[in-house]
Amino acid sequence: MAVSEKELLTEFEGQLERLDIKLFEKIASQTTDRDKRSLLACQLAVRILRPTYTYLEIGSYLGGSLQPYLLDAQCSHIYSIDKRPPSQPDERGMNYEYENNSTQRMLDNLKQISEAGLSKINCIDDDASNISESQIQHRPQICFIDGEHTDEACFNDFLFCLKVVDKDGIIVFHDAPIIYNGLERVTSYLKAQRADFRAYILPDSVFVVELNDFRMHEVPHIKEMLVNNYVAYIASLQANDHFRNFANKPIFQFLRNVKLKFTRSNVSN
Ligand SMILES: C[S@@+](CC[C@H](N)C(=O)[O-])C[C@H]1O[C@@H](n2cnc3c(N)ncnc32)[C@H](O)[C@@H]1O
Repeated sequence: MAVSEKELLTEFEGQLERLDIKLFEKIASQTTDRDKRSLLACQLAVRILRPTYTYLEIGSYLGGSLQPYLLDAQCSHIYSIDKRPPSQPDERGMNYEYENNSTQRMLDNLKQISEAGLSKINCIDDDASNISESQIQHRPQICFIDGEHTDEACFNDFLFCLKVVDKDGIIVFHDAPIIYNGLERVTSYLKAQRADFRAYILPDSVFVVELNDFRMHEVPHIKEMLVNNYVAYIASLQANDHFRNFANKPIFQFLRNVKLKFTRSNVSN
């Protein structure tokens, strides 16, 4: 017997309540398991705070991070913005290539999740800085930034999101340990604007900016992640551990020790 839309919704709601990462299993997503739990925690919190909401995402690739929104009846509209360049720069120091990166491929994937859900997606194949505000007719309550992983692009994507997001809403960033300087620009900008905001990290690398009266940190399952912030702290440091391992190669240790012999800059007195 075919599963009805109602049964699908009940199953979805149970999975979301449990932050069950199986909600991401049909399409590969470029996120860790703990990222997936944090993204589900944000979605659950948005549903608790808003009876209906709009989701906007920059950087969708195969559609992995869109899956749980497609199934959510409370999510009335989805914007998927993806420039889909053959190769993209990255703060990790090399270009990243996404093969067969097309909107049609993503839509074919998403069709397996929910044909009905497809009707609420609006895809825009461009860089956010070329998109006019009028193209976003429904203000999102949650924006997710996961496009080009450079500090510059992260900041520009943020400025776009800030223009279109609901006054009380959240802007969520993926891969915080890569674009941390962009995030520093984001928070400095908000401080300079005297904006009413809170910002924090969820495991492993999900950075959240809450605006005005959107008090997601008070929702219990988010609060629990925040109290145990050691998880995201350690994950962020470990994500960049290879840089320390490189800097500690014997040749660099030797050169530092030679320098210290002359400068004695690590001697306290
Ligand atoms: C890391 S992938 C997104 C992964 C997806 N969110 C997921 O979890 O499965 C990055 C995506 O950003 C897109 N992209 C690259 N540069 C972009 C830009 N300037 N604006 C928007 N999207 C961009 C790429 O085409 C790629 O699909």
